[in-house]
Amino acid sequence: MNVTFLLNGETVDVDTHPTQTLLDWLREKRHLTGTKEGCNEGDCGACSVMVTDENGARTLNACILFMPQLHGKAVRTVEGLASPDGTLHPVQQAMIDNHGSQCGFCTPGFVMSMATGHLNGRTDHDDVLAGNLCRCTGYAPIIRAANASEGTSVPDHMREVPPQLGETDIPAPSTSDELAQWYMEHPEGTLIAGATDVGLWVTKHFTDLGDVAFLNRCADLQQIEDQGDAFRIGAAVTMTDVLGAVRDLHPSYAEMIRRYGSEQVRNAATIGGNIANGSPIGDNPPALIALDATLHLRCGDSRRDMPIEDFFIAYGKQDRQPGEFVEAVTIPKTAPSLRCYKLSKRFDQDISAVCGCFNITVEDGEITAARIAFGGMAGTPKRAASSEATLVGRPWAFETLQAAAESLTEDFQPMSDMRASATYRMEAAQGQLLRYFDDINGTETSVLEVRA
Ligand SMILES: Cc1cc2nc3c(=O)[nH]c(=O)nc-3n(C[C@H](O)[C@H](O)[C@H](O)COP(=O)(O)OP(=O)(O)OC[C@H]3O[C@@H](n4cnc5c(N)ncnc54)[C@H](O)[C@@H]3O)c2cc1C
Ligand code: FES
Ligand code: FES
Repeated sequence: MNVTFLLNGETVDVDTHPTQTLLDWLREKRHLTGTKEGCNEGDCGACSVMVTDENGARTLNACILFMPQLHGKAVRTVEGLASPDGTLHPVQQAMIDNHGSQCGFCTPGFVMSMATGHLNGRTDHDDVLAGNLCRCTGYAPIIRAANASEGTSVPDHMREVPPQLGETDIPAPSTSDELAQWYMEHPEGTLIAGATDVGLWVTKHFTDLGDVAFLNRCADLQQIEDQGDAFRIGAAVTMTDVLGAVRDLHPSYAEMIRRYGSEQVRNAATIGGNIANGSPIGDNPPALIALDATLHLRCGDSRRDMPIEDFFIAYGKQDRQPGEFVEAVTIPKTAPSLRCYKLSKRFDQDISAVCGCFNITVEDGEITAARIAFGGMAGTPKRAASSEATLVGRPWAFETLQAAAESLTEDFQPMSDMRASATYRMEAAQGQLLRYFDDINGTETSVLEVRA
């Protein structure tokens, strides 16, 4: 299969197989070993590269980026960061000036994230760099370097113009109609959206995926449609773009997405992939259930819609037929009482132990509707039916929330695993419900905001 892209400003034509990763190709075929392999699963950022397409420049983890996903794009690695005359990029110089590197293993990944942030005018360096791990320098000098390079001019070669390309033999449908046709013909095939799950099947489990179709060229699946009182979000919209869409309307959901993986992961992962994989610890499903979102599925020419909670049947089992795919999800624009609480061992770049999402309506002091959903508490993302029933029709009072918290024991029998014990999960979920009461009543509950 033939893939064409710009590599550090030069066009390359590569004959590749569908699941060769960019990291392997760079290091093994091009001997560009500046891009490092740390974890090979998207966690450490040592393999960060800058990828530019018509939507702009973003950082991605090369270790879980398949070569066909690069067709028609521009890739810049650490070897292409300095100017052609050898002048260091401003972020490289700032890292030297601020002593931002010791052993240097993580440094190429850091400077690629910093350079992409620099190009995009970002000053939220903690977020930009949350997906880059350093074992020895410590983050303070690195953040100092990022601060120091703010406002310095962007070298011309960083403003890439990706090539315009015609037909390709990559299995990458350009419309959802084409995708529907392909999936009907290959119902056992694997859809690859952002590859933040599928990439690990290859790099960690050495799975042979068989027939694959890439969704990253499917333009209509990447649209966010404003329907007046709702947004219809295409399945292949990345978490970065979902974050942009919900930032002002649903700030609590947005804050949770800000802690979803890292910049590199959010730039790749799609909302459709996060729903379709049916994970009990995915962050979107509880929020979408609390929002009363509608899921849109498509199989060939037939389509069906369902409340999103009905999609998750049991652990590893979703209401999806062979050849059927997630086309979009529709969320209401208004939900002022929505709150999403993600609890994980590490603040950034960690999977939830418990993720509770709450959307309770109060009219004249009485609870008239309640939608509560949790991730991490059962084999699927799940509504708390008993707890909701305890709330509706009762006054908005702390005692009511306490009773609803007790009812959570009827809704869930969580398990113990490496992230949390069953007892911890239950107590944390109950605590989140009580936190919601304070939060809605205006008491500051975020540990980031509480000040002495
Ligand atoms: C380092 C790291 C950190 C992470 N952190 C988080 C986190 O904080 N929170 C969280 O929730 N998740 C997290 N994840 C998990 C991952 O990002 C998500 O599950 C992701 O949303 C999957 O989306 P994707 O587009 O990458 O899917 P892919 O990996 O491309 O696909 C996942 C599955 O969905 C299927 N699929 C994809 N699109 C469709 C579609 N439209 N219709 C039907 N099937 C489809 C694929 O065939 C595959 O089975 C993390 C992953 C990594 C590697
Ligand atoms: S090698 Fe760790 S994120 Fe790629
Ligand atoms: S400088 Fe050694 S890991 Fe960061």
